[in-house]
Amino acid sequence: MNILVLGSGAREHSMVYALARSPSVHQIIACPGNVGMSSTGICKRVPFRDNSELVRLCKDTVALAVVGSSKFVEDGTVDALVLAGIPVIGPAEDAGRIETSKAFAAKFMARHHIPSPRTHIVVNAAEIEAAFGSDPKIRVVKCDGFSHGAGVVVAETLEEAKAAAVKFLKRHGAPLILQERLEGVECSYTILTDGQQWVSFSSCRDYKRADDGEVGPTTGGMGAVSPSPDLTPELDRKIIESIVEPVVCGMKDDNLLYRGFLSIQLMLTPLGPRVLEFNARLGDPETQSILTRFRGDLAGLLKDCAMGCLTSVGSEVAFGRHAAVSVVVAREGYPDNEAEEPVVRGFERVRDSLVFFSNCRRSDDSEDYRFKSGRLISVTAVGETLDEARDKCYKDIARLELGNVKYRRDIGLIDQ
Ligand code: GLY
Repeated sequence: MNILVLGSGAREHSMVYALARSPSVHQIIACPGNVGMSSTGICKRVPFRDNSELVRLCKDTVALAVVGSSKFVEDGTVDALVLAGIPVIGPAEDAGRIETSKAFAAKFMARHHIPSPRTHIVVNAAEIEAAFGSDPKIRVVKCDGFSHGAGVVVAETLEEAKAAAVKFLKRHGAPLILQERLEGVECSYTILTDGQQWVSFSSCRDYKRADDGEVGPTTGGMGAVSPSPDLTPELDRKIIESIVEPVVCGMKDDNLLYRGFLSIQLMLTPLGPRVLEFNARLGDPETQSILTRFRGDLAGLLKDCAMGCLTSVGSEVAFGRHAAVSVVVAREGYPDNEAEEPVVRGFERVRDSLVFFSNCRRSDDSEDYRFKSGRLISVTAVGETLDEARDKCYKDIARLELGNVKYRRDIGLIDQ
């Protein structure tokens, strides 16, 4: 079959890599894709212009579309493909609000008794004042929609949180989501669901802060290890009972058809797992770690899911006991003031890892890659143990020729 992959980042590059290993795949069309994907012989790139052109391109040629970035959920691309009869891995716009609207997600969790931080949804200055008056533990302020990382503040003090709420109301408008700050370890838990059944797509620990020791500004993600070293079998059971099952049933009860990956961002607190947020897609760089561990027929499984016939239920599918580590190499200064053009060369020297490229191109007169984004590449290695995977990954990074870049040295260190 021919498969469409929507997106242009390292996440989508790792999807192309994993799908290309499925026996049933003839060709992969990456839209818009990136030049790094060309190394996968069966991948062709096409530009993304608009939904109607995409539907014309796919109709009668593509057996399955797989959404990487949630931009394609929010802007109606999934709906347009489904309407044209193309099976899609990715939720329609209404079910995708579980990611694209934080207020929707908070109300969904309250309605279906899904454990989450104490939350207030406010729409004006008087309600902000009243919420802080009744709940002095509020420290987290979120705007409702996408704001490219600028829409969340985790404050140290009540005054800082209040000031952020007032600023956000002016800048992003209503509603705002105000929450208590939870203490614990973060864990990301991914499932694949066809709206009725679901399978676990394993877990990750991701590293969101820019600098070693999980300090510095929040980024799109500087690394990920899979499975999460913090997830015990008992916690796994609790997450399934108290979160996964209620989410899948809740979608059905609310008449929302959710087909695709759902990544659940959790805080593992002393009182049990609590949902911080949902992503209606696989995470980046979590995907790079998860999919390199996957050992089955990914294309077949995704096709079954998109057709509403997922048969393996509940338990984790086709993941060995291996661990994977992904380290993101970003521009120097990322995510704030990014420095001059980075140098990333020497890929032929990489021995034991896979290199997945972010949005990049190559000019006619040079072998060098030119990157459009702050995050440049994800170097991913798999090992029998986390230590082995980590060792392979960092040794391969040391073999690259790198200039004007930064990366964390502590991805996968257990005591972080
Ligand atoms: N790594 C976080 C995300 O993909 O949103």
